[in-house]
Amino acid sequence: MSPRHFLDIAALDRKTLRGIIETSAKIKRKGQAPKGLKQGAVLAMIFEKPSTRTRVSFEVAMHQLGGKSIVLAPEDMQLGRGETVADTARVLSRYVDAIMLRTGPHETLLELAANAQVPVINGLTCRSHPCQVMADVMTFEERKGPIKGRTIAWIGDANNVATSWVHAAARFGCKLRIASPNAFSPAPELLAWAKGEGAKIEVSNDPLEAAYEADCVVTDVWVSMGDNDEKKRKQILRPFQVNRAVMAQAAKGAIFMHCLPAHRGDEVTAEVIDGPQSAVWDEAENRLHVQKGILAWCLGKEARASKARSPKPRGTRR
Ligand code: CP
Ligand code: NVA
Repeated sequence: MSPRHFLDIAALDRKTLRGIIETSAKIKRKGQAPKGLKQGAVLAMIFEKPSTRTRVSFEVAMHQLGGKSIVLAPEDMQLGRGETVADTARVLSRYVDAIMLRTGPHETLLELAANAQVPVINGLTCRSHPCQVMADVMTFEERKGPIKGRTIAWIGDANNVATSWVHAAARFGCKLRIASPNAFSPAPELLAWAKGEGAKIEVSNDPLEAAYEADCVVTDVWVSMGDNDEKKRKQILRPFQVNRAVMAQAAKGAIFMHCLPAHRGDEVTAEVIDGPQSAVWDEAENRLHVQKGILAWCLGKEARASKARSPKPRGTRR
């Protein structure tokens, strides 16, 4: 059996994802580490892009779970001088218990996972940001109860976070309405996948229609890390700002979420993000609790037992 990678919400089944959310909520409630975690486990984190929340929440999570983390920047590694991703995966697997990667191309993440003998966690790629949306689902349920059958409105760029929301709609059974301009709308293959999974997704160009009676309005930056068409994006996405008019369409008591960092005056007004419907600080906090749930699933007793049962590749010492 291969290691328990956390690469995408789409890659895992409903029961596993629900289990991770439940573990995360329990850890948050009880404030203690789940039993059966290997003490002194080490997580290596490779950041090819900047991060505040992902970096700090994983570091603190490992510390509070009784482990350690090592933060690696490609320019400080041989990876930055051309050592292959595959060789990096093989070597790190001999030292650490799990690897988290934040990178651009999703293929780099898949290559790392294919060659690692320890769990690999997606800390954001251009395609998806699953740890974030797990925290979003947890936050929604804390505030509004079970997400199944509820309506989430995504307004703006159908980016990596939106893709993880499409995956979440399929796995957690919420309805997702996406309002985005044609230039930044969800990929047809993604929508075809979602349809095949029975997910309820509606796509339009109308933020007010998408937000109508929604239980949650969510957005993200117009210019993601690695995007180099800032001027064009800001122009095209301007009508997709989450503001008072958009929130007025949503259901009574609807919440607003944003993965952060935010740009007030662009994708969201200060009035909304700093207003009473905003759940963004709980959402940011829940990154910490969800990282623990994810780490517990990747590194817990069950994961180790399934690894011990699987035949080890020749020459492997672990
Ligand atoms: N939301 C999020 O992933 O934030 P960072 O880029 O700060 O990690
Ligand atoms: N869509 C954003 C998310 C940042 C957490 C980006 O990729 O830059």
